[in-house]
Order: sequence, then structure tokens, then C-alpha cells
Amino acid sequence: MQLNRFIQINTPYSRQQAKLLLAQGRVKVAGQIVTDASLEIDRFVRVELDSQLLQDSQSHYLMVNKPAGVVSATEHPEHQTVIDLLPQALRQGMHLAGRLDLKTTGLMLLTNDGNWSRRVTQPESKIAKVYRVTTKDPVAAEAEAVFSRGIYFRYENITTRPAELERIDSYNSRLTIHEGRYHQVKRMFGYFDNEVIALHRERIGAITLDPKLKPGEFRPLTPAEVALFA
Ligand code: URA
Repeated sequence: MQLNRFIQINTPYSRQQAKLLLAQGRVKVAGQIVTDASLEIDRFVRVELDSQLLQDSQSHYLMVNKPAGVVSATEHPEHQTVIDLLPQALRQGMHLAGRLDLKTTGLMLLTNDGNWSRRVTQPESKIAKVYRVTTKDPVAAEAEAVFSRGIYFRYENITTRPAELERIDSYNSRLTIHEGRYHQVKRMFGYFDNEVIALHRERIGAITLDPKLKPGEFRPLTPAEVALFA
């Protein structure tokens, strides 16, 4: 976006007035005074008017490949958070649409649009979440049948929604669940006394983790991906 357009969108000033502000040397981009109204600015860059940060009022939607050891929170006294993986300019107002355990890796969605994240996380929407699971022991013979019937969780007094298990080999499988209870996948395998030793989220609804993203990397969602929960 051009700088004068950015100022017009994020202040009460018109495009013409924005040009004047620029000519007066009152606008800084990434800490430097800029006078060129037609400068193309990156959406994540810091823009200040009279030393006041201009808030980009646009909505942002990102996917992150969460590494193990990074906590699904906006702040944490001990661990690096998923928000810490983003550049400073992009952190403002961002929150997580769902959570993963500390050691779990893979797809996380982040946004500053609360309505959008609510649609991703609300339990009634029954959105499919797909996990690649590695277990300590071979997966039990009756796992498909038990997972598709649902497992009773005493603490919540609920039975899990029917889930689909696809075997990759004895120790590796792909599990699709349609809700997000606390430690749900681990507790489902825990029914068989089988410990989950690696867990990786591949998909949320029709949004698949981009294979180009290395652990810790992120990218903006495409308009088509955003529209899936619009
Ligand atoms: N289920 C779990 O047990 N852990 C996760 O991080 C996600 C789903």
C-alpha cells in the first residue's frame, strides 16, 4: 500500500492532508522521516505520525508452524510463546485461535479478528482437526471402533464425538477429531494405556499446514483460507 493511502486509512486526514504531513517531515517509517507519499510500505512496518504509532486497522490472519517447547499463549514467564515467533510489528492485538500442548508441533492459526477466531474455536462448529500421532506402543486393534464410538471423559462428563483413525504403521497414525478437549488426543490414546510420544497438527478444517513452513515460521493466510471461516 502507498504511504499516503495508509495515513488516510489510519488517521482522520485526507490523502491531500497526508501529503502535507509528509512534506512537513512529521511521518516516520521504520524510525526514518519519509516525505515520499507514494512509498510502497510493507503491511508490517512501523509508521509514526508526530511520534504516535499509527495502528494498522486491517485484520491479520496467519498460520504458524509451532515448534515443540513453544507455549500456546500470548505471554509466559518461562517459555517462548507463539506470539514471540512473530516480528514485533505484527504482535499487537494478535491472539491464538486454539491451543496446542507445549510439546505438540504444527498448525496454529493467529489473528487480531476476534469474530473469526471464535468461528474457528467454537465447539458447536465441529471443525475437523487432524493430528499425526506417534505412540509408545503399537496402536490397539480395536482403536478405530472405540474412537468412532467415542470415549467417556469423566472430568467433563462427556463422550467424545466420533473420531476417525487412519493407521500409517503400528506406531504412527492420523487422528481426526471434531472438538478440542483438554489433552484430547493424549487422553484418547490413554484409554488404551498408550502414551503419545509425538503429536503434530496437520490441519484445521480445510486449512492445511503449509509444507514450506519450517518449525517457527509463519505466513499470512490466503484470502481463500480466511474465507473458510468468514
Ligand atoms: N490433543 C492433545 O492431547 N494435545 C494437543 O496439543 C492437541 C490435542
